[in-house]
Amino acid sequence: MNQTSQTASIGASEPPPPVHAERLTAYEMSEVLSRALREGILAQTGETAVFYDLTRLDSTLALLKSAFPQTALNALAVKSNPTIEILKRIRSAGHGCEVASSGELRLAEVAGFPVGAIVFDSPAKTNAEIEHALKMGVALNANSLSELRRIATLRNSVVSQSRVGIRINPETGIGAIETTSVAVRHSKFGVSLSACREALLRALSEYEWLIGIHVHIGSQGMSREQLLDGIGAVYDFFLQARATAAVNVFNIGGGLPASYRDTDHPIRFNEYACALHSRCPELFSSDVLLVTEFGRAVHASCGWVASKVEYVVEYDDGIPTLFIHVGADMFLRKAYRPADWHHDISVCDPSGRLRTAQKRTFRVAGPLCFAGDYLDQNVSLPQDVQEGDYVIIHDAGAYTFSMWSVYNSRQFPAIVGYEELGARFQYLRKRQTLDDIVAFWS
Ligand SMILES: Cc1ncc(COP(=O)(O)O)c(C=O)c1O
Repeated sequence: MNQTSQTASIGASEPPPPVHAERLTAYEMSEVLSRALREGILAQTGETAVFYDLTRLDSTLALLKSAFPQTALNALAVKSNPTIEILKRIRSAGHGCEVASSGELRLAEVAGFPVGAIVFDSPAKTNAEIEHALKMGVALNANSLSELRRIATLRNSVVSQSRVGIRINPETGIGAIETTSVAVRHSKFGVSLSACREALLRALSEYEWLIGIHVHIGSQGMSREQLLDGIGAVYDFFLQARATAAVNVFNIGGGLPASYRDTDHPIRFNEYACALHSRCPELFSSDVLLVTEFGRAVHASCGWVASKVEYVVEYDDGIPTLFIHVGADMFLRKAYRPADWHHDISVCDPSGRLRTAQKRTFRVAGPLCFAGDYLDQNVSLPQDVQEGDYVIIHDAGAYTFSMWSVYNSRQFPAIVGYEELGARFQYLRKRQTLDDIVAFWS
């Protein structure tokens, strides 16, 4: 589809920003790694560094902004990438953030988001968290009718500017990945639309401060049709509710998939906005505040990881194993549910140059003390890979280091941001020290 004309039809006032390739190439990552090695950046990071392309983030954020109405609040999911310097950049680009714990809320505050740009979700908010959120004035979405009743009680004793919404589960079904599909029957997320339609309508009429509807059906693995069906079902309810209640906030959640292989071509922001505009036109009208909560589709392709090959060990099954310094501690999903998740892997020599020799099969193992700690058990890599090389793990900017596991108490690696393919580097986060680890366990 033609991205320019679609964007124009939603009403963005400025010309759309240029569209970039879906993913960084191995050559681009090798170029950045070579520069980082030449400039001594890796001397301070240890054996593993996370790289994050800030130029790409900026252009992705601009594409997001131009796709949806200028009045929309794009609240990026902090859980997908909580790096403070990246959150600050998101804030500076005029976006907001979605938080799902007190810790994420604190990160949002420290990153300087205005309270009106913060949305607090989570299925298990405590009384103290709700009270704090109401006092601050951040928006919050109740995950259940029980939570809504708590909010109603707490609101009696707190003066609050918070926009309160209720999360609805349209039960439109499972996507390609079961563990990230949340619009299923008896999901722990949201109020069942089919079972509680009347109760929801009553709550919306009774509580004049309940002005929002929230829906999020899953992350990765949801098809374009499933996303539109789920949101469409809740939108139809929204129109019904608007006949008797003053609901004017509609939060479509996140869930736009990212590309992890050259053959993946997920729906892009402006194409998605156009499809939503056709199915749910009222969401684009000036009297509705449209909220989005994307994470993966923004961050995944901006980040990648370089980890030094410590050993190449040959076994008598003919499949050598590369031991690197990151595994199930950073790539939890890949290690524990290998059939559901994928990361392309490349290899660079010690100067950062991409190895391109003929390929053979390898295993790539992490450093942790358990038998499932593999990034891949069957991956084709250049046969001349050696100790001291770097394994590059592609598309690692979302739900990787944000899910860090402290098992074996390994040091959380440095995160190195760069612009213009490494023309400028900056540390976004330094490597965890051994004292930090002692402090964690003390
Ligand atoms: C409520 C909510 N909103 C937004 C997101 C972000 O989803 P994604 O990163 O797939 O866009 C999630 C992810 O789990 C979520 O639970």
